[in-house]
Amino acid sequence: MKLAFIGTGYVGLVSGVMMSHLGHHVICIDVDKSKINLLKEQKSPIFEPNLESYLLNCSNQGRIEFSHGYDNKLSEVDCVFITVGTPSMEDGGADLSYIYEAADKVAQHIRPECVVVIKSTVPPGTCQSVQNLLIKNGFKNSVVSNPEFLREGSAISDFLNPDRIVVGTSDQHSALIMEQIYLPLINQGIKLVFTDLITSELIKYASNSFLAAKIAFINEMADLCEIVGADVEVLSEAVGLDKRIGASFLKAGPGFGGSCFPKDILALQKLTMASKGQFLLLDALITANQTRADKMVQKIKAALSNNLKNKTIAILGLTYKAGTDDLRSSPSIPIIEGLKKEGANIIAYDPKALKNVSKYFGSLDCRNSSIDAISDADALVIITEWPEFKDLDLATAKKVMKGNVIVDLRNILNPERVISNGFEYHSIGRRKLTS
Ligand code: UDX
Ligand code: UDX
Repeated sequence: MKLAFIGTGYVGLVSGVMMSHLGHHVICIDVDKSKINLLKEQKSPIFEPNLESYLLNCSNQGRIEFSHGYDNKLSEVDCVFITVGTPSMEDGGADLSYIYEAADKVAQHIRPECVVVIKSTVPPGTCQSVQNLLIKNGFKNSVVSNPEFLREGSAISDFLNPDRIVVGTSDQHSALIMEQIYLPLINQGIKLVFTDLITSELIKYASNSFLAAKIAFINEMADLCEIVGADVEVLSEAVGLDKRIGASFLKAGPGFGGSCFPKDILALQKLTMASKGQFLLLDALITANQTRADKMVQKIKAALSNNLKNKTIAILGLTYKAGTDDLRSSPSIPIIEGLKKEGANIIAYDPKALKNVSKYFGSLDCRNSSIDAISDADALVIITEWPEFKDLDLATAKKVMKGNVIVDLRNILNPERVISNGFEYHSIGRRKLTS
């Protein structure tokens, strides 16, 4: 089939490349000319493990092309996926302007029988509004809702092995086209859940809110573990072994970030408020995560005898999770801001995000390796669980640092090893070990 993707961001690019890998002919369109120019050279503008090799392969086989304009090639496609961003507005609601802009431009080029799919996360009712807009331009089908569930860092395997594919549509033709598009995955036994537009749109918000709630729950449990002297790692493992609960998304840390969870729960809250409903659990979950960064700052302050003035703190890891170069809503942003407010000097290192730092932090003193960042530091704080931090050479770290405090906000280091190297070790939801 011939497919188009509008928006080559983290979701659109991975989905476009992987659809091409499944055998479809794909054209990816983005308004950002610099991204398209890179892609034409078979280089990925984002870091996503293995993406570039799939891109190269599909390009070499002539099944993927890139364009920065909405051109006549769109008149040849069977289906257009809209994958532009839906960021938060000031009031927490989803900014849908890119969706409508993309739909409007798409409408000027597609054939009336082309299927239009909204893959971006949008509040219930949006697909219907897009459909109304398209119908004015002679469009014949129902718009399809097909939410994405790709995690950055493992987006390719999430695409190839999804737990389910959700399709919201009200017409048979669109349903058939969606089945044909996903046939290689359906043939592997992946379940395709068909539903109406509104339910499909809400499924995405329900999934992300529930996962975010699991994380917020374990984070608050970690706080309680610290108070009563329990160990959140063992607790999380034992609780997760209960099949009714499940082990995933029970890792305590500095709070959830990224381009989806924080914005999606705010959009759901906004939606609930607009319909004069109540979602008390969601309100609590938002507050729990928003206050998490300050708790982390207080934890770091307590580890440094309650005084951060003129202390040099080395931050290892800036991205909201490992495996991505994405800094959107990363907990590192409010944590670093909080530490600076307390008078600390920050020196940071991240293996993939340094090129994006100025957009999110303004001026931040960054170094090119962990050892460079921690040299002469009073404390070392791990914010992201990058594998290379697990293997940090602690003997060298002890030699180059001025102080001996490690605050591990992801519980990735081995406590005994840290202590035996002469450090004071602070982690999340565990008793403080002393030598
Ligand atoms: C996606 C979804 O769109 C979002 O709703 C979902 O919740 C998370 O995943 P993401 O891929 O992370 O967002 O967004 P981003 O990386 O910002 O990519 C959006 C792309 O769309 C950018 O490359 C941007 O240049 C492009 N774009 C934006 C257009 O091509 N046209 C526009 O009108 C607006
Ligand atoms: C999420 C959804 O999982 C995915 O389906 C899609 O909708 C896009 O949004 P993503 O944001 O890429 O994916 O990453 P995810 O792995 O879900 O992690 C989100 C945040 O939660 C990160 O900050 C991560 O560090 C944090 N997290 C995750 C935890 O703190 N503990 C956990 O156990 C899991």
